[in-house]
Amino acid sequence: MADMVDVSSSGVSEPISSCAHPLTTPTSTLIFLVVSISETVAQHFLGPRNTGDDPFGNWGKPGTATEELAWYPTDFLRDVVPLPCHSHNDYWRKVPLFTALYAGCTGVEADVWLRNGDLLVGHDTASLQPNRTFQSLYVNPLVDILTRQNPSTDFYNGTQNGVFDTDPRQTLVLLIDLKTNGPETWPWIMKQLEPLRERGWLSYSENGQFHQGPVTVVGTGNTPFDLILGNSTTSPRVAFFDAPLDKLEESGFNSTNSYYASVDFWDAIGQVWWKGEPSQAQLGKIRGHLREARSRGLVSRYWGLPAWPIHVRNRVWQVLVEEGIGMLNVDDLDAATKQDWTKPGTF
Ligand SMILES: *[C@@H]1O[C@H](CO)[C@@H](O)[C@H](O)[C@H]1NC(C)=O
Ligand SMILES: *[C@@H]1O[C@H](CO)[C@@H](O)[C@H](O)[C@H]1NC(C)=O
Ligand SMILES: *[C@@H]1O[C@H](CO)[C@@H](O)[C@H](O)[C@H]1NC(C)=O
Ligand SMILES: *[C@@H]1O[C@H](CO)[C@@H](O)[C@H](O)[C@H]1NC(C)=O
Repeated sequence: MADMVDVSSSGVSEPISSCAHPLTTPTSTLIFLVVSISETVAQHFLGPRNTGDDPFGNWGKPGTATEELAWYPTDFLRDVVPLPCHSHNDYWRKVPLFTALYAGCTGVEADVWLRNGDLLVGHDTASLQPNRTFQSLYVNPLVDILTRQNPSTDFYNGTQNGVFDTDPRQTLVLLIDLKTNGPETWPWIMKQLEPLRERGWLSYSENGQFHQGPVTVVGTGNTPFDLILGNSTTSPRVAFFDAPLDKLEESGFNSTNSYYASVDFWDAIGQVWWKGEPSQAQLGKIRGHLREARSRGLVSRYWGLPAWPIHVRNRVWQVLVEEGIGMLNVDDLDAATKQDWTKPGTF
């Protein structure tokens, strides 16, 4: 899907306390109270999760525990509980992939461009650098991680441990947003995924059955659905489509050819106003989408969620979680995961 430029919320996270000047009318006092109470309740639910030191300050530097992945996985992910959150525009993070894993997100997204015979990762052409490639940022680190997670020893000969120590059967979704010509770019993706495929680490579908592996590849943006369908008659399908969440009815999208079903929240559901509650009509639409996705075995996801004000963003997250959203799309990983979503009533 074409990603909108999402407004990062981290710089404007205190819209409420900054308006704590005297409020006079009963209505404004009531609004103020309701807002502050819900923010406080949110904070209560959302107490800090990863309380350890930020491992990313000196990432990869010699002499630190993060050099050469020597620390992976036991130290790094010891307390990390995987969560159904999708790290939108993951490559913007201090350390792509690993920041999302550390936050517990089970989905990451890379915008990929075919340039000069290689696949580069970046939000726009200005951000592309020759050394930030699909292989260097995603494929190679995943091969390293999964090699460590699946050692061959006297005690273990398995191959299917995923990236999360605390839940080795959890798959990691690698959402690939093709930014350049689909039919030209897609074969490069398949070629560069080969180190993961040949080791049996990709989810695949064969004879109408989906088999989950440590990594699930999903194509979006310019990804051509017919190339995803491709040659599965001759070999198992190892990449899946990001189906349109609002157009599933009467469609051929199901878990044998697609994994996510996504749509822009703003386009499909609309604006959620200051009071922060989706209307009954909006709720009805959301429920319809989620039901349809679920019945096809697809993981529902909205992108372009409201980012501000914070209480609206949190309330929309909460509603989506209550309604059983498959994957919560997040731009602000800290806000989404330094919250205890594992408490009752949340994830
Ligand atoms: C990638 O290239 C940039 C600029 O060309 C450089 O500053 C950076 O250190 C390089 N990174 C790596 C990991 O080689
Ligand atoms: C794993 O394979 C090796 C080599 O075939 C064998 O020596 C070892 O006992 C196996 N370990 C387990 C747990 O089966
Ligand atoms: C799969 O399909 C693509 C596109 O139609 C084609 O280029 C490629 O050669 C096919 N691969 C195999 C193994 O048949
Ligand atoms: C999935 O869809 C394909 C084609 O759209 C269809 O042939 C297949 O039977 C469906 N499989 C399931 C499990 O619904």
